[in-house]
Amino acid sequence: MTTNTSRMKWVILVALSIATVPLLAHAAGEAVPIDRQKWSFAGFFGRFDQNQLQRGFQVYKDACAQCHGVSRLAFRNLAQKGGPVFNEDAVKGLAATYQVNDGPNDDGKMFKRPGRLSDRIPAPYANEQEARATHNGAYPPDLTLITKARGIEYHGSLFAHPFHIVKDMASGYQEAGADYLYALLTGYVAAPKDFKLADGMQYNKAFPGHQIAMPPPLIEGNIKFQDGTPATVDQMARDVTAFLHWAGDPKHDERKGMGLLVLLYLLITAVLLYFAKKRIWASAH
Ligand code: HEC
Repeated sequence: MTTNTSRMKWVILVALSIATVPLLAHAAGEAVPIDRQKWSFAGFFGRFDQNQLQRGFQVYKDACAQCHGVSRLAFRNLAQKGGPVFNEDAVKGLAATYQVNDGPNDDGKMFKRPGRLSDRIPAPYANEQEARATHNGAYPPDLTLITKARGIEYHGSLFAHPFHIVKDMASGYQEAGADYLYALLTGYVAAPKDFKLADGMQYNKAFPGHQIAMPPPLIEGNIKFQDGTPATVDQMARDVTAFLHWAGDPKHDERKGMGLLVLLYLLITAVLLYFAKKRIWASAH
């Protein structure tokens, strides 16, 4: 009896210490818990909201493009179905305001010319070194694939983790990168009193380690949306996040639509096969 209870005590102790591992990692200044947001593009039936993508591009262009490129996107993508679907002539006009590298010409020289629809959107810096030199050694990464490159960590108990994973699979959760980006953009708060911030660094509650070299990029009142939506920091963060999520997955809507069609096709085939099987086997005995 006594050995049984003492064994139980050990089991409980070990269980508790395993369950608190994620909490300890948090205390050590690793990735912090991040809230999930509601996105129009979430889940199996989710689709991008075209107006939101248009606003998001405006935020990117006015508030991020001076430091970050989206260089895997071409101008023509901005006019394509499933994206912001800007008017093609407007995008042509926009492309022409950029100078892009081309060449070599007949004399073997590289040259610059106004952008065209087929060009990739030029990044603000020629290379990583130039970007770092401008930002005190910090590197503003290209944002085309940023929501794929970031995620959020699980912070609940270890025992609930497998259920959490299954739930995410069943609901088709793929928006962890977007949730992180939104949290980062809205995560600038005053540093706690005992926190030592290095020179030129900002405190951000979502950034791992909390010190980030990026100044708060979204400031209320700096942008006026063409569709009249109030440009609060929260709204701008949501819109630019949606835009960057689309930038990393421009075929998202088409892909999800095709997935549903395939499921429907398989369902119909399954029903037909069932009746075919019944017919074939009906005469067997
Ligand atoms: C003045 C320049 C500047 C502007 C404007 C700017 N950023 Fe940054 N950004 C940086 C720098 C520098 C870093 C690198 C930070 C670091 O490593 O500490 C960075 C890092 C990032 C990161 C990476 C964070 C991570 O998890 O590693 C993201 C995402 C990001 N910026 C998004 C944006 C978005 C979205 C906007 C526009 C709303 C924007 N930035 C505007 C300079 C800028």
